[in-house]
Amino acid sequence: MMQAIRYHQHGGPGVLQLEQVPEPVPQEGEVLVRIAAAGVLPVDWKIRKGLIPIPQIYPVIPGTAFAGVIAGIGLGVTGFEIGQEVFGRSTNGTYAEYTTAPAGSVALKPSSISFEEGATICGGATTAWCAMKQAGIKAGDRVFIHGAGGGVGLFAVQFAKWKGATVTGTAGPSNIDFIRSIGVDNPIDYTAARFEEGLEGQFDFVLDTIGGATLERSWLLLKRGGALLTITGQPPIERGEKEGVRVLRSTLASQEDLIEIAELLDKGIVQTRVQAIFPLREARQAHTRSEDGHGRGRIVLQVIE
Ligand SMILES: NC(=O)c1ccc[n+]([C@@H]2O[C@H](COP(=O)([O-])OP(=O)(O)OC[C@H]3O[C@@H](n4cnc5c(N)ncnc54)[C@H](OP(=O)(O)O)[C@@H]3O)[C@@H](O)[C@H]2O)c1
Repeated sequence: MMQAIRYHQHGGPGVLQLEQVPEPVPQEGEVLVRIAAAGVLPVDWKIRKGLIPIPQIYPVIPGTAFAGVIAGIGLGVTGFEIGQEVFGRSTNGTYAEYTTAPAGSVALKPSSISFEEGATICGGATTAWCAMKQAGIKAGDRVFIHGAGGGVGLFAVQFAKWKGATVTGTAGPSNIDFIRSIGVDNPIDYTAARFEEGLEGQFDFVLDTIGGATLERSWLLLKRGGALLTITGQPPIERGEKEGVRVLRSTLASQEDLIEIAELLDKGIVQTRVQAIFPLREARQAHTRSEDGHGRGRIVLQVIE
């Protein structure tokens, strides 16, 4: 048996319970991971609240992002050994002492980063990486990133800079210095200015991590033939056609992507940021903090204290 956070119905943070549950068994093509740290993604509480219409089998162990140690290997898996430190993505829940994941969703954790830092990669760096790849960002491009200090935004800024783009980014007043420190050339405090003012038609790519009115006002920023990706809802394809903008879709990272991201982190070319660490038993507090929607970097649950 193992400890895991579970919920038996949709609801507020109070539905999250620490329970004893059976340890998962790796199936063919999967590895078993002893989790050291789990990322707390906004999608975790959105699913818990019932805001995302996906079929659920209760009880649910939340979480997809993890870092930990290989504890078992399923049939047909090659390239991993028990005891290796890894990070990755699981669809079997990660707010737990163990999870299973397809071997292709797992990669070796850079030795220079902690487990907590490793847990920030999936759903943060991976989302940003796939966005930059899809947009085909290259040297000289002008990129606009909303929520540039958030779990996705901070990686998007650094990947865009690494590609040689010029980056404009938005953040609240307490994160302006931070986004400048990670490479944003033109930081904009979204509480003090209308971000689009004076920047109409200037950008090759806009990454929207906020949605709503922010997405609506973002069309103005784009050059004709520019690209937009919103990670907060369905891709607005028809609107893109009207605006003469390529609307991109969010995609999942491959193992090759995970390895490339790990290398950039290991070399210190890209840095991550842990916003706060909560012990597993305080998952309710971690969700409440994430729902606040502000701050810098990723909230993480520490499973091995
Ligand atoms: N589809 C996908 O693959 C995918 C993957 C990951 C995330 N997402 C979604 O993308 C969104 C962002 O995820 P995340 O992990 O980056 O969230 P996060 O870590 O909570 O970061 C959001 C950031 O946005 C800033 N912010 C809040 N309101 C803003 C505004 N009006 N304008 C500009 N910045 C603002 C926040 O801090 P300050 O206001 O303090 O500066 C914070 O730094 C979530 O809705 C999440 O569910 C989707």
